[in-house]
Amino acid sequence: MLQSALINVMVKAARRAGRSLARDLGEIEHLQVSLKGPADFVSKADKRAEQMLFEDLTKARPGYGFYGEEFGRREGTDKSHTWIVDPLDGTTNFLHGIPQFAISIALQREDTIIAAVIYNPANDELYTAERGKGAFMNDQRLRVAGRRQLHDCVIACGLPHIGRGNFTLALKEMAVLQPKVAGFRRFGAASLDLAQVASGRFDGYWERNLSAWDIAAGVLMIREAGGTVSEIDGGDLLTTGNVVCGNEYVHNELIRLLRPLK
Ligand code: IPD
Ligand code: CA
Ligand code: CA
Repeated sequence: MLQSALINVMVKAARRAGRSLARDLGEIEHLQVSLKGPADFVSKADKRAEQMLFEDLTKARPGYGFYGEEFGRREGTDKSHTWIVDPLDGTTNFLHGIPQFAISIALQREDTIIAAVIYNPANDELYTAERGKGAFMNDQRLRVAGRRQLHDCVIACGLPHIGRGNFTLALKEMAVLQPKVAGFRRFGAASLDLAQVASGRFDGYWERNLSAWDIAAGVLMIREAGGTVSEIDGGDLLTTGNVVCGNEYVHNELIRLLRPLK
């Protein structure tokens, strides 16, 4: 399938960094038994991937700004364009050798996300989207699921863990939703959770306190797949990172049930 020159640039960069992460994943199993453990190894893999993405994307589009999780903001001369990048989304999965992690790249023009790539090098699933041109997974066009009964729906979520998240609120959210849905899934990589909603595998997803680099690409992916995505409490999504999404019915039902709990 013919992709635009912009998407091709993003895919080429994601695949190169993905090859590096796939090699590093292969090393993880050996490090699990070492005294120092893999944590510092993963941090180096994370930073190496971001530097590779910075080099490739900056070479292809000189002057664009770059906002990455590991090295923060690097201003460019072109103040209209910024790459928003998570070089390794799903770090904990990666650390444990779980093949559910991704490189997430979004291009923001002024305040609008215009292009997105989410790539899982462990299974070679490549999600792409460009504003007004649809969303694809390995060249297959994506469409959100059409289910309109919450009791038929599988809903992905994020769950607080040691040192992160509002435990009381999460328990309230679970208590309200558990009796109403067909199942929950917690896969541990927000960008892939969003991509799975765009692909129709998940009927909906919500999570709080994410970062712009977790969600910027997935937001465009879902909208281009005919889905609805917004900030749970009505704030600015890329600022608060409180994301909720699905087809319009599921999105609205999740908001109706979740918003009063805050
Ligand atoms: C994390 C993953 C995880 C989400 C966390 C994120 P990271 O990203 O997306 O699914 O629950 O809030 O921080 O730290 O592995 O890049
Ligand atoms: Ca992340
Ligand atoms: Ca990350």
